Amino acid sequence: MPDSKSAVITSALPYANGEIHLGHIASTYLPADIFTRFLRLNGRKAYHICATDDFGTPILIKAEKEKKSPEEYVAIWNRRDHEDFSSLGISFDLFYKTSSIENVEFVQRVFKQLQENGHIYDQNVIQFYCTYDDKFLPDRYVIGKCPYCGAENQYSDLCEKCGRVPDQILDPKCAICGRPPVKKESKHYFFRLSGFSQQLKEWLSSNPHLQPEVKNYVINWINEGLQDWDITRDLSWGVPIPLDEARGKVFYGWFDNHLCYISTLVKLVKDKGGDAKKFWNESEVYHFIGKDIVYHHYLFLPAMRMGINNEYKLPDYLPTRGHLMLQNQKISKSRNWYIGLRDFTSAFNPDYLRFYIASVVTYSQDDLNFDWDAFSEKINNELIANIGNFVNRALSFTQKTFGGRVPEPANVDGALAKELANTVDEVGYLLASNQIDRALKRILKYSTYMNQYFQTNAPWANKETANTTLYMSVNAVRSLAIMLEPFIPFSAEKIWNQLKLGGSVHEQSWQSAKDAKAVSPGRELGKVEPIFRKIEAKEIEQWKNKLGKP
Ligand code: 2FM
Ligand code: ZN
Repeated sequence: MPDSKSAVITSALPYANGEIHLGHIASTYLPADIFTRFLRLNGRKAYHICATDDFGTPILIKAEKEKKSPEEYVAIWNRRDHEDFSSLGISFDLFYKTSSIENVEFVQRVFKQLQENGHIYDQNVIQFYCTYDDKFLPDRYVIGKCPYCGAENQYSDLCEKCGRVPDQILDPKCAICGRPPVKKESKHYFFRLSGFSQQLKEWLSSNPHLQPEVKNYVINWINEGLQDWDITRDLSWGVPIPLDEARGKVFYGWFDNHLCYISTLVKLVKDKGGDAKKFWNESEVYHFIGKDIVYHHYLFLPAMRMGINNEYKLPDYLPTRGHLMLQNQKISKSRNWYIGLRDFTSAFNPDYLRFYIASVVTYSQDDLNFDWDAFSEKINNELIANIGNFVNRALSFTQKTFGGRVPEPANVDGALAKELANTVDEVGYLLASNQIDRALKRILKYSTYMNQYFQTNAPWANKETANTTLYMSVNAVRSLAIMLEPFIPFSAEKIWNQLKLGGSVHEQSWQSAKDAKAVSPGRELGKVEPIFRKIEAKEIEQWKNKLGKP
C-alpha cells in the first residue's frame, strides 16, 4: 500500500426495496468502512461511496403495490438506508442513487461510446411474456432450472447455487402467477462480453491484488466461454436507452448500477472543486462485494470499462467475502430468519455488532456466522472483560489515586514501548491487507498484555512504581483508542473524551498510536466511567425468540 495515494472505496449498492440487515453489513459495508477509516488515519484521502440501486422490475412492482411512484418509493429507501448505515457508523463520503441525473447521463454516454467502439449489437430476441399478467418478464420474473448446475427455482438472471448467469433458463415459470410464460419478439441490445475474454484473462492474471481463489474460478468461467449480455429491458423504470428506435426500453440494472460507482465519485470530487477523472485514475480503486456478485464485478464491470478505453481505470482490488449465516442457517427475509440493522442498533451499542462481525469476518469467500450466544460471549468476555476492563482500570485508578492527573513516571518502560510499537505495526499491516479479524485479535492480544502488566505491577500495592505503571497504562489507553477507531468508532471516541486530549480520535494519525509518551505527566483526565454495558442472558433469549424459522 503506497503511503500517499488517494483511494476510492465502494460498497456494493443495496437495492432500494428492503431494509439493510446483518447479512449486508458483514460481507460488505463494515469491512469497507473499517478499511476506509484505517486509510484515513493514515492520512490518505480515502472516499467511501455508495448509493441505492434504484432501477429494475422488482422495485417497480413493489412501488405499484404501495401505490407510490417509483421515484417516491426509492427515495424512501434511500433515506432509510442512509440512516441505518449511519446508525452503525458506516461513514460514507457520499451516499447517492443510481437514478440520479448524473448517473443517467453517464450511463447513456457510456452506452454511446461502447456502441461507437463496436461493443454493442442489436438482435431480435424472443422474450418471455406472461399473457395473464400482460407483461414482459425480465430476469427475476422468470424462475426455472439452471442450465449449468441443474439447481431448481433459480432466477433467470442469476443462479444463486453456482453463481453463473444462465443463458436460457430451463422449465420457465412466471414469478408473479406461476404460469408458464409465452414467447414474444422484441428488439434488444447486447454487450459483446465474449469479445473481452482474452483481455479479461490477461487483466485477471496480471492483477496481483485479487484473491487467488476467486480469480481462479473466474478464469475457469472464461475458459468455458462467455456469453454476451442482453442489456435491454422492456420496462418503464430504468435508464432510457438513448436511441430513437429504442423508445420505451431501458437498460438492465446491471448495466447502469456499477457505473454509479463512477458517477457518484465524480459528483463528490466535482462538488469539492476537484478533477474527478484524474482523482479516480490516480487513486487505488477498491470495490467491496459479497461473493454472489463476483460474475458482475470480475467480468462484466471490467469489460465495460475496457470497452470505453479505460477512461476510468479498472479496480485494483475487489475484496470479496462470503455470506453471513444466522445461527448457522441461511438468512431468509421471507421466513423472518434475519435481523434488521435498525432493530439491532436500537437495542445495542452499534459497536457491539461491529466488534463481533470484525472478529469473525475472514478475508475469504467462506461464509461466516452470527450466533447470539457467541455474540454475547464475545462482547462480555473480550470487548468488556479485556479491553473495557483495562481502559477502565487504568483511568479510574488515575482518577482515584492521582486526583485525575497523569502521574510523572520514574522511567519509560522500554519493553512496553516496544510491544506497543510492534502491535501498531502488525495491526497496521493486517488492516492494510484487509485481514480485519486478525487485526482485531492482535489488538486483543495487546490489551491482554496490558491487563497483565497492570495486574503484575499492582499499583494499589506497589506505591513506588505506581506512577510509572499508571503513566504507561494511560498512554496505552490512548494508543488503544486510536487502533480501535476503525473497529468501534463510537467507543473509541468515548475513550478519547475520557482522556480529555482534545479533538477527535478519528483526527489522529495511525503512526502516533506508537507513541508511548504522548500523554504528558500532569494532564488531567475527563470524566471517567465504564464505556460498555454487559449483555444479559435474558436479552439474548428474547432476541432468539424473535426469529422465525430457519
Ligand atoms: O446484488 C445487489 O444487491 C446489487 N444491487 C448490487 C449492485 S453493486 C453494483 F452497483 F455494482
Ligand atoms: Zn404471470
